Amino acid sequence: MRLDKFLSNCGLGTRSQVKDIIKSNKIKVNTELVKKPEFNINPEKDVVYYEDNKIEYKEFYYFLLNKPKGYLSATEDTFQPTILDFFSNYSHLDLFPVGRLDKDTTGAIIITNDGLLAHQLISPKYHVDKIYIAALDKEVDPSIKEEFEDGIMLDGEKTLPAKIEFLDKNICRVTLHQGKYHQVKRMFEHFSYKVIELHRERFAFLTLDNLEESSYRELTNEEVINLKSLCKK
Ligand code: URA
Repeated sequence: MRLDKFLSNCGLGTRSQVKDIIKSNKIKVNTELVKKPEFNINPEKDVVYYEDNKIEYKEFYYFLLNKPKGYLSATEDTFQPTILDFFSNYSHLDLFPVGRLDKDTTGAIIITNDGLLAHQLISPKYHVDKIYIAALDKEVDPSIKEEFEDGIMLDGEKTLPAKIEFLDKNICRVTLHQGKYHQVKRMFEHFSYKVIELHRERFAFLTLDNLEESSYRELTNEEVINLKSLCKK
């Protein structure tokens, strides 16, 4: 891997910032002072120092964002803000959201550059829980429970078994293991209810405790290991 890419991935700065750092004689690879951004290193074997401090290499980054309304779950858009706007300090990392929340949906969403784990977490194969709180336009009739949980036809196929809890007259908690386009909204629409507010309170075991709207935090190593283990079964 090129030295400038390695340093940028480690969070030392953008590619052009790290090129300047390299040229200013601050980077050592093993015992050698290196001045060329294109110098090739082996992240598994070589030890890189910045002003004599060892740099730990991290290939993948994982964040949990408490998404506010008004942001697209996309990496870029010409006209509208995207959730990647919160991660402008990490623009060198090629981050993307794991699945999508609608522009008007709030709550838990993972942002990463680990394509494999992202793919697994949204695959219906691994049954990872996505838990939503939905506010509906009118009082819900609990008799929808059986059909809602058993599955309804969307896009020509039956939705996977789901769970619905009735928290208040027009408030439900819904647990899904898949993420079809507008799935929660369309499942309620099937019963003639309109979702007026939607919030994802949990993704897998990740809740938003102490994470204010529009804030994010990096996942701990333990959380990442636990997410990966969900996708092994
Ligand atoms: N289901 C929806 O309808 N919208 C979301 O944003 C997420 C799940």
